Amino acid sequence: MMSSLVRPGGFSPYFQATKHGAKSLLFPGAAERLPALGEAEVRLSFVTCLSPAPAATRLAHTDIKIPDFSDYRRPEVLDPNKSSQESSEARRAFSYLLTGATTVVGVYAAKTVVTQFVSSMSASADVLAMSKIEIKLGDIPEGKNMTFKWRGKPLFVRHRTEREIAAEEAVNLAELRDPQHDKDRAVNPKWVIVLGVCTHLGCVPISNAGDFGGYYCPCHGSHYDASGRIRKGPAPLNLEVPYYEFPDDDTVVVG
Ligand code: FES
Repeated sequence: MMSSLVRPGGFSPYFQATKHGAKSLLFPGAAERLPALGEAEVRLSFVTCLSPAPAATRLAHTDIKIPDFSDYRRPEVLDPNKSSQESSEARRAFSYLLTGATTVVGVYAAKTVVTQFVSSMSASADVLAMSKIEIKLGDIPEGKNMTFKWRGKPLFVRHRTEREIAAEEAVNLAELRDPQHDKDRAVNPKWVIVLGVCTHLGCVPISNAGDFGGYYCPCHGSHYDASGRIRKGPAPLNLEVPYYEFPDDDTVVVG
C-alpha cells in the first residue's frame, strides 16, 4: 500500500473536499482508524488503495473557496448585480487606449520585421564595393583604348582624339541602325566608356579595328564606330553604355 504524508498548509482547502467525498468509500473499519492516521495521509491513501468508487459518486471540490480578485478588478464592475452595460462608457476609453497602443506596437514590429527581411536580401557592403570600379584616366593615352574587368565583363575606356570626336558628332542619325547621338553616349566627349560585349552574340570586339575605326567583332563581322554604335554587321544594337561619373578631371567611377 502506498501512502503519502502531506503536511497541512497552503493546500488544506484542496484536500478538504476529498475527505468529505471519500468517507463512505473507505474499507470496513477504516472509519475507526481515521483519527489515528494523519488527516492528509488518509485523504491520499483512499485514492490509491481503496476499492474503486462507483462511477456515479461525485468527488467535485464544490466547497473550495474561490480567491477574491476584487483588488484586480475595476471599481465599475465590482458589483455582480449591476449590468456591465452600465459601466461600458467608463471602460471604453481604456479599451480604446489598449487597442490603439497594441496596434501601434504591432505596426512598428511588422515594419521592423519587413525592413530587416528586405535588407537581408540586398547586396552586402563588400559586394557593393566590388560593383564599382575607379579608373585613373591619366593612364590612358589619347587615341588609345584600355580594357578593364568590371562585374565579370570587359569594360572599354577610350580616350578619343579631336578628329574622332568631330567625326562621331557629325554622323547622320538616319544612317544608324540604333540611332543615338554621340552626345547622348559620351558625358565627356573625350571619353567613351562602353561594355566590351558584342550585342549580337556576346563576343568581345577588338578595339581600333573595323571599317569605322572603333571596334570590330570578329565572330560574325560587326563593325562599331568610335562611339560604340553599330554601323555594319549582324549586331542589332550599339555597345551598352554603363552608368559612370567623373569625381574629378582625372578619375572616372563606373557603377
Ligand atoms: S557576336 Fe559579334 S558579331 Fe556575332
